[in-house]
Amino acid sequence: MKRTYILAIETSCDETAASVVVDGHDILSNVVASQIENQRRFGGVVPEVASRLHVEQITVVIDEALEQAGLTPADLDAVAVTEGPGLVGALLIGIHAAKAFAFANELPIIGVHHIVGHIYANQLVQPMQFPLLALIVSGGHTELIYMKEHGSFEKIGGTRDDAAGEAYDKVARVLGLPYPGGPAIDRLAHEPTAEPVDFPRAWLEKESYDFSFSGLKSAVINYAHNRKQKGEALVPEDVAAGFQQSVIDVLTERTVRAAEAYHVKQVIAAGGVSANRGLRTSLETAFNEKGIPFTVPPIAYCTDNAAMIGAAAYEMYRAGIRSTLAMNGNPSLPMRSWNDA
Ligand code: KG4
Ligand code: ZN
Repeated sequence: MKRTYILAIETSCDETAASVVVDGHDILSNVVASQIENQRRFGGVVPEVASRLHVEQITVVIDEALEQAGLTPADLDAVAVTEGPGLVGALLIGIHAAKAFAFANELPIIGVHHIVGHIYANQLVQPMQFPLLALIVSGGHTELIYMKEHGSFEKIGGTRDDAAGEAYDKVARVLGLPYPGGPAIDRLAHEPTAEPVDFPRAWLEKESYDFSFSGLKSAVINYAHNRKQKGEALVPEDVAAGFQQSVIDVLTERTVRAAEAYHVKQVIAAGGVSANRGLRTSLETAFNEKGIPFTVPPIAYCTDNAAMIGAAAYEMYRAGIRSTLAMNGNPSLPMRSWNDA
């Protein structure tokens, strides 16, 4: 059977990425040029800097993705690119590169929602089973998405304030840890010196599938201030462990309750925070106990990459979805279903 070769491009935030994916799961190349080292000195992502670095990297990264795959443009069936959400200036660099490439090589172009990409990172590992529940935890999103079928997305819960990754990054800043905060807090949280500091959990209404992390963030900031005022040293390991446990408890409880209520056949986690060791273990343990299959992508495919965009684009391609060269970067692109099964 003819195989489908997709070149995918992702530039929504601070990674310039390109990948060639066959049939949505065979990764022939996965090139990621991270700006983290550059952005670290600003303590976060500066949009203008991100755009400039994407411009410098994009053609090099695309050429490398093709070269590593051992392909020429003539071998491809389509070009996929992250259409949104993300930083508009950053998105536009990838979109313009994708449009130019598609036009020059007479290829169809497919605009992909960044979070749909994160979800489909799971298909790089194994086929999805429906109905499915996806826990999305990234720097900009914290959501529970119910999927009846491929391309069908129903949001059943989300954050009312900060995203989980955002809370990680802000708490890391309070602890004087480098950007991005997630990996550093994850490491410290596994090395507590004493009891983890006891921080609150935002349970909201009992029946809700929503999240809230701003109260927890404030609790950590207050704790740090109080310590400082009393002239007492703060133990970053114990703060990190307490903060992480609070985040994990709420994410796990909500996801388990939703999975049971919706009688899903599979639960997946996706997005940068799903790289978190504590969260992966907590979800794996909880769903093992419940006997519900749980998957999370390998760590390299949890944070931003282009292979996940290629995986999502393949399902869209099969469903006949195509974008036009009028595509624009949309920083608040809604997550639309392409299949209303
Ligand atoms: O998905 P992603 O790479 O970009 C967005 O779409 O936002 O997620 C980035 C977020 C950052 O907030 C980062 O601190 C967090 O993912 N992150 C982690 C870990 N690795 C990355 N958070 C917790 N534990 C980790 N190991
Ligand atoms: Zn992301």
